[in-house]
Amino acid sequence: MDVGTLTSLFTGLPVPQFRYFDTIGSTNDEALAWVAAGAQDGCLVAADQQTLGRGRLNRRWITHPGAALAFSLILLPKAEEIERMGMFSPLGALAICQALENMLGLASQIKWPNDVLLQGRKVAGILLEAAWLGDELQGIVIGIGVNVTAAAVPPQNELLFPAISVEEAAERPVERIALLKEILQSMFELRSKLIEPAFGQAWEQHLAFKGQWVRIEGTDNQPITGQVLGIDPAGGLLLRSSAGKQFTVTVGDVHLRLME
Ligand code: BTN
Repeated sequence: MDVGTLTSLFTGLPVPQFRYFDTIGSTNDEALAWVAAGAQDGCLVAADQQTLGRGRLNRRWITHPGAALAFSLILLPKAEEIERMGMFSPLGALAICQALENMLGLASQIKWPNDVLLQGRKVAGILLEAAWLGDELQGIVIGIGVNVTAAAVPPQNELLFPAISVEEAAERPVERIALLKEILQSMFELRSKLIEPAFGQAWEQHLAFKGQWVRIEGTDNQPITGQVLGIDPAGGLLLRSSAGKQFTVTVGDVHLRLME
């Protein structure tokens, strides 16, 4: 990526400053350090290559040069947004869905809580991290990784869930910087709706596996199965058990698979 092009990309967006790296360990680590040092709302860290990128559940997320988007947006939530903290990860996921739709006409879904799927395969992931000073929230970092070219997709045998790239789904080359701009635009636009009920509805509209039976595997609990009903107001996944009882899985260490 070219720094000059990136600078013009941010024109018209509320991104006061950005840091771009050809190679970095993790853009989230850099962004968290920037928050601690006093970053403003909307600052962005982006990299062409990540050598120590992190995913959810302590997984690795390696980004090869030229193949993906890897960036971290810093937000300093306002008081009313702090009450809806659980909505910031879906904010990233929904923004990606909206960008894929607007730019490429691709219909995507969100595998709860926030993996973005194209054709039932994962194309993007989000790692939300918060920086605290004692019990005071300093800021949050929304880390986003998008597989843009086929080179970004790890071999299937290394994956827990099948993956895809944007280019494979679009069947044409995709300009990474244009996609980044589209995602950022959507993120800022959706942020203004974060505290409205319509935001949860938009998330639910994109929810993958609705009506289907899924298995949810936690890190320490026995897997549980249920039929996906929707998203509850706090952002948990609403399910129905085989005995017909409704229950909610809260955001946490779970992953979700469609039952065979
Ligand atoms: C996941 O699906 O497990 C989340 C993946 C998040 C990866 C992104 S890439 C940019 C940012 N920096 C990181 O170290 N991780 C996130």
